[in-house]
Amino acid sequence: MSTMTATVPIESDAPIPTWFGVGGKAKRLAHPRTLDELRQCLELDPKLRILGDGANLLVADGGVDELVVALDQGDFAQMSVDAATGMVLAGAGVNLPKLILETTRLGLGGLENLGGIPASVGGAVIMNAGGQFGQTGDYVHAVHAMTRAGEPVTLKRNQIEFTYRHSRFGDHKGLIITGAQFKLKRAESEQLRTKLKDVMAYKKTTQPMAERSAGCAFKNPILRDDLPGVAVAGSKVSAGMLIDKAGCKGLKIGGAQVSDRHGNFLCAGQGCRASDVLKLMREVRSRVQAKFGLMLEPEVAIWGETL
Ligand code: EPU
Repeated sequence: MSTMTATVPIESDAPIPTWFGVGGKAKRLAHPRTLDELRQCLELDPKLRILGDGANLLVADGGVDELVVALDQGDFAQMSVDAATGMVLAGAGVNLPKLILETTRLGLGGLENLGGIPASVGGAVIMNAGGQFGQTGDYVHAVHAMTRAGEPVTLKRNQIEFTYRHSRFGDHKGLIITGAQFKLKRAESEQLRTKLKDVMAYKKTTQPMAERSAGCAFKNPILRDDLPGVAVAGSKVSAGMLIDKAGCKGLKIGGAQVSDRHGNFLCAGQGCRASDVLKLMREVRSRVQAKFGLMLEPEVAIWGETL
């Protein structure tokens, strides 16, 4: 038999690692190393799901039937940085915090604003991950992707439609991000390091970073009407603040609990199941709806269930 192209190994009944640490298994899991191997995965299941760092993901207790693909090996885990031009090329599976450390060290500015966000590069691009200091799309020059038919494509920044916590990528039927190009600006490495420390310190004091969670569970809503005592129509308000004002901090269902520190963090404790987190999300959403008349939208990706 000719073995020009290696066959990508498929694991069965594999755990899906997420920061929540709850949820079911993948019937099939693959770690392709090249575009060819990713193409093989697409032939097996065109509806495959891409697993990033699992930092913003809740998997239902029943797991998922689709092939799960982790782009954390081979070409997808490579990065190259051109310190002179500020161009950075990173595979979809590159760890964002590691990339930030590297660009900061080399005196390239921008990504330090994303400090403390746990993500793969692909995951950060898909959801335009960010916070008060910046969002991923601000630094993206182009994105390399593959269609579900196995065709490689490159999208320029203006074709990506970045908005708050959203991009044109995103469901498990659309384009698969294989890598991203960032355009960064030359800066003093020492200043970047200080900024990175500040960004991370802000998160540490306001968020329960040591607990098992997916960061913010809901998106910050834009108010359609004035909310007296909160903000005026048209402003984006902190979902965490609304959850807090609705009296949900500390609320517990099964092993899942709303953080005492930040209302938008739902944390998984001992014995927690994905169904506990889902129930808690529904309860929080309905309390906020009852108090403020607005419906929070999930920010966390949910596999195998709908909220
Ligand atoms: N606040 C409360 N109670 C709370 C939480 C917040 O009163 O329980 C108040 C704070 O005191 C502050 C305001 O709400 O005055 C805003 O809070 P914060 O700075 O924590 O920002 P946020 O809007 O709640 C956003 C992002 C976070 C990001 C932080 C910091 C979303 C949904 N959340 O939170 O992103 O880390 O800014 O940059 O956009 C994530 O995406 O997973 C995430 C955690």
